[in-house]
Amino acid sequence: MKKQHTIALTLIAAAVVAGCASTPSSADLDKMTADIIKSSFHDRGIVKVSVLNTDEINTVCSAADVAGKPLDSDVAIALQNEQLKTIKWPADGNYMGDWQKGEKLAQSGKGLTWSDKADTQNGGNCYNCHQLDPAEISFGTIGPSLTGYAKTHGVLADPNSPASKAIVEYTWGKIYNSRAYSACSVMPRAVHNGIITEAQAKDLMALLLDPKSPVNQ
Ligand code: HEC
Repeated sequence: MKKQHTIALTLIAAAVVAGCASTPSSADLDKMTADIIKSSFHDRGIVKVSVLNTDEINTVCSAADVAGKPLDSDVAIALQNEQLKTIKWPADGNYMGDWQKGEKLAQSGKGLTWSDKADTQNGGNCYNCHQLDPAEISFGTIGPSLTGYAKTHGVLADPNSPASKAIVEYTWGKIYNSRAYSACSVMPRAVHNGIITEAQAKDLMALLLDPKSPVNQ
């Protein structure tokens, strides 16, 4: 067993040395990656290989990630402004749905797999990154806690003030397309990318902002 390991390690070391002798260019690496994707992935059910295509903001953020440097602030603001233009504001001016539906949606990470149907409603997956209801014991911490959201953002104090309206709009925008406010956010661009519908986004708005929602108790 030990001898086999030694042989394997020697082979890997030899391969690494051989690799250094003729380092592929970044164009070669891009082509190799595209070829691997083409030969290894295929459409299945509702999941299409095209989900691997990246848009400009993904490409710029990935490059910054690889370089280990944050985006230049002017570039970040320009990209955010582009994303801001993708947001559709509710035509009837009504941002609030049903917090009870919002709670179920926030807890569900279901959807977007090949065995789902085109009309399957996806979950919002919010609990995977955020605390919401203080009574909930299972939640992720990649995003900030949203417990007491309306209170911490000053909406409950005076729901009709211009400041509260600005928060309502920001919250809608954040759920619609998180990158409009933080260029390389890891939060999914939920409505923009068709993960959830506008009606579902309204239910999540109520979960965050309705005074009766468990989030605000
Ligand atoms: C993969 C992790 C992830 C998921 C899933 C996620 N978020 Fe976020 N969210 C974040 C992060 C990280 C931030 C902090 C700001 C940023 O980087 O965009 C954030 C910020 C927010 C904010 C702004 C908070 C503030 O005080 O300004 C709101 C509102 C929000 N998320 C709501 C949601 C809702 C609703 C869902 C479910 C549809 C959700 N998030 C799903 C990671 C996530």
